[in-house]
Amino acid sequence: MDDHVCETIGRPDLIDLGGGLVCLRFESMKVASATAAVRHLLETGAVEPGDTLMDSSSGIYAYGLALACHRYGLRCHIVGSTTVDEGLRVQLAVLGATLEQVPPSDSLRFDQSRRVRRIRELLREHPDYHWMRQYHDSVHYLGYRAVADQIAKELDPAPLTVVGGVGSGASTGALATYLRERAPDTALVGVQPFGSVTFGSDAVADRDIIIAGIGSSIPFGNVDHTLYDVVHWLGFEAALAGSVDLLRRHAVFAGLSSGAAYLVARWEAERSPERRTVFVAADTGHRYVDTVFARHAEAAAPEDLGPAAVTDLSRLARPWSRMEWGRAAPPPQAVHTEG
Ligand SMILES: Cc1ncc(COP(=O)(O)O)c(C=O)c1O
Repeated sequence: MDDHVCETIGRPDLIDLGGGLVCLRFESMKVASATAAVRHLLETGAVEPGDTLMDSSSGIYAYGLALACHRYGLRCHIVGSTTVDEGLRVQLAVLGATLEQVPPSDSLRFDQSRRVRRIRELLREHPDYHWMRQYHDSVHYLGYRAVADQIAKELDPAPLTVVGGVGSGASTGALATYLRERAPDTALVGVQPFGSVTFGSDAVADRDIIIAGIGSSIPFGNVDHTLYDVVHWLGFEAALAGSVDLLRRHAVFAGLSSGAAYLVARWEAERSPERRTVFVAADTGHRYVDTVFARHAEAAAPEDLGPAAVTDLSRLARPWSRMEWGRAAPPPQAVHTEG
């Protein structure tokens, strides 16, 4: 029996979708990461019960941190983006977490850097607050060790390919790092939106998708580019097609980054039948009912979609591109230099 709902939600399920495709399904992915991070900070004396933990979040990290603070008796302050919806807002309030949302900007991609500016202001006003820095502090890798153990145990001994959207980079980076300790041939495929600096697609505009938890307009310390073998970039319509097909064909109701990862994983799995291809489904579909699932009639069939192979970032093009990243260093615009 679990001691707290953090443990329950922090434990994903593995679903065999057939054809070598496996869905790693989270109800809300960052609960595992935030809980382990907070536990580590308490154990090392970096924070104490009663302290205030603070971070910026577009949604699922806020929920994870609020649950972790609830469990360990800490206060939680979130600087949220405009994507924090009513369901989460109300839960945060009842859980005792405080939320401030940055005002909407014309271009949603700038929400991220605005939120960081606001965090810096808050730190000047409250030097005692602990900034979790989910995008930069590798403490956020720790919670995925148990997930990697679960994958290794349930899927052993097939060679694995892990596919997942890259936001902070913690989930895919940690899963590959921990799985490679046992199986160095584990492949890692990152999924990106267009318009993101992380893997250099910032010159290709697609402003709708950058707020869905993957991609970034600023460099992140937690993205270790040298872990990724392949990167795919998908536009909104392709991700929508993936989300709708994941529900229609496999009855898995998951979000937009999950749909993008599923579409990519299907494509990779068909070309590597000797491998198990595990894709990360980070959250459920509820947040995306109006923007994605209500548009199911216009969703393309996955069979009709495929990536353009590119060897140079200047050739990236919508709706879908794929590049052998080859564990290369970050592009200049994604180099993280702040402490
Ligand atoms: C819905 C969703 N999918 C994927 C990710 C990417 O996870 P990570 O930050 O571990 O790279 C996030 C991160 O916020 C997310 O919210």
